[in-house]
Amino acid sequence: MSDLPQITVIARDGATSVLQQSAGQESLMQLLFDSDQGVEAACGGCASCATCHVYIAEDWVPRLPPREQVEDLLLTYSEHFDKSRSRLSCQIAMKPELHGLILEIAPEE
Ligand code: FES
Repeated sequence: MSDLPQITVIARDGATSVLQQSAGQESLMQLLFDSDQGVEAACGGCASCATCHVYIAEDWVPRLPPREQVEDLLLTYSEHFDKSRSRLSCQIAMKPELHGLILEIAPEE
Protein backbone atom coordinates (compact mmCIF):
# COMPACT_ATOMS: atom_id res chain seq x y z
CA MET A 1 0.00 0.00 0.00
CA SER A 2 1.26 3.48 -0.87
CA ASP A 3 2.25 5.74 2.00
CA LEU A 4 1.44 8.84 -0.02
CA PRO A 5 -1.27 10.81 1.77
CA GLN A 6 -4.92 10.91 0.85
CA ILE A 7 -6.93 14.06 1.37
CA THR A 8 -10.63 14.85 1.18
CA VAL A 9 -11.68 17.74 -1.04
CA ILE A 10 -15.03 19.48 -1.10
CA ALA A 11 -15.49 21.09 -4.52
CA ARG A 12 -17.30 24.38 -5.21
CA ASP A 13 -20.44 22.43 -6.13
CA GLY A 14 -20.32 20.56 -2.81
CA ALA A 15 -19.10 17.26 -4.30
CA THR A 16 -16.63 15.42 -2.10
CA SER A 17 -13.65 13.47 -3.45
CA VAL A 18 -10.77 11.63 -1.90
CA LEU A 19 -7.50 12.36 -3.69
CA GLN A 20 -4.18 10.63 -3.30
CA GLN A 21 -0.88 12.36 -3.85
CA SER A 22 1.12 11.11 -6.82
CA ALA A 23 4.87 11.21 -7.15
CA GLY A 24 6.03 14.66 -8.24
CA GLN A 25 3.16 16.55 -6.62
CA GLU A 26 5.14 18.53 -4.11
CA SER A 27 2.51 21.02 -3.05
CA LEU A 28 -1.14 20.70 -2.18
CA MET A 29 -1.89 23.02 -5.13
CA GLN A 30 -0.26 20.59 -7.56
CA LEU A 31 -2.42 17.74 -6.33
CA LEU A 32 -5.59 19.86 -6.63
CA PHE A 33 -4.57 21.29 -10.01
CA ASP A 34 -3.82 17.86 -11.49
CA SER A 35 -7.15 16.54 -10.19
CA ASP A 36 -9.23 19.19 -11.98
CA GLN A 37 -10.64 20.70 -8.83
CA GLY A 38 -11.06 24.14 -10.43
CA VAL A 39 -7.84 25.45 -8.92
CA GLU A 40 -6.42 27.69 -11.63
CA ALA A 41 -3.00 28.29 -10.02
CA ALA A 42 -2.39 31.16 -12.44
CA CYS A 43 1.00 32.11 -10.99
CA GLY A 44 2.29 28.53 -10.95
CA GLY A 45 2.75 28.46 -7.21
CA CYS A 46 4.76 31.58 -6.42
CA ALA A 47 2.19 33.11 -4.03
CA SER A 48 1.10 35.96 -6.26
CA CYS A 49 -2.36 35.11 -7.65
CA ALA A 50 -4.54 33.57 -4.90
CA THR A 51 -6.30 31.33 -7.45
CA CYS A 52 -5.26 28.30 -5.37
CA HIS A 53 -7.23 29.52 -2.33
CA VAL A 54 -8.70 26.78 -0.12
CA TYR A 55 -10.41 26.56 3.27
CA ILE A 56 -8.84 24.07 5.64
CA ALA A 57 -11.13 22.12 7.99
CA GLU A 58 -11.05 23.77 11.42
CA ASP A 59 -9.48 20.83 13.23
CA TRP A 60 -6.68 20.69 10.67
CA VAL A 61 -5.72 24.37 10.86
CA PRO A 62 -3.41 24.01 13.89
CA ARG A 63 -1.75 20.95 12.36
CA LEU A 64 -0.37 22.93 9.41
CA PRO A 65 2.56 25.34 9.48
CA PRO A 66 1.19 28.88 9.90
CA ARG A 67 0.80 31.30 7.00
CA GLU A 68 3.96 33.16 6.04
CA GLN A 69 3.70 36.92 5.68
CA VAL A 70 3.45 36.89 1.88
CA GLU A 71 0.63 34.34 1.98
CA ASP A 72 -1.18 36.27 4.65
CA LEU A 73 -0.92 39.51 2.72
CA LEU A 74 -2.22 38.06 -0.53
CA LEU A 75 -5.14 36.31 1.15
CA THR A 76 -6.28 39.43 2.98
CA TYR A 77 -6.88 41.02 -0.43
CA SER A 78 -9.31 38.23 -1.33
CA GLU A 79 -12.97 39.01 -0.86
CA HIS A 80 -13.39 35.40 0.24
CA PHE A 81 -10.74 35.55 2.95
CA ASP A 82 -11.55 33.58 6.08
CA LYS A 83 -9.02 34.55 8.76
CA SER A 84 -9.05 31.19 10.47
CA ARG A 85 -9.31 28.74 7.55
CA SER A 86 -7.93 30.38 4.39
CA ARG A 87 -4.70 29.07 2.85
CA LEU A 88 -2.90 29.25 -0.45
CA SER A 89 -2.61 25.59 -1.37
CA CYS A 90 0.65 26.29 -3.25
CA GLN A 91 2.27 27.20 0.05
CA ILE A 92 1.50 23.87 1.70
CA ALA A 93 4.07 21.16 1.04
CA MET A 94 2.73 17.64 0.63
CA LYS A 95 3.97 15.26 3.29
CA PRO A 96 2.75 12.06 4.95
CA GLU A 97 1.42 14.00 7.95
CA LEU A 98 -1.27 15.49 5.69
CA HIS A 99 -3.00 12.12 5.39
CA GLY A 100 -6.66 12.67 6.23
CA LEU A 101 -6.63 16.42 5.59
CA ILE A 102 -10.02 17.88 4.71
CA LEU A 103 -10.37 21.08 2.73
CA GLU A 104 -12.82 23.03 0.67
CA ILE A 105 -12.05 24.89 -2.57
CA ALA A 106 -12.70 28.62 -2.03
CA PRO A 107 -14.95 30.51 -4.48
CA GLU A 108 -13.29 31.88 -7.61
CA GLU A 109 -11.77 35.32 -7.29
S1 FES B 1 -0.83 29.30 -7.33
FE1 FES B 1 -0.79 31.47 -7.34
S2 FES B 1 -0.86 31.95 -5.23
FE2 FES B 1 -0.90 29.81 -5.26
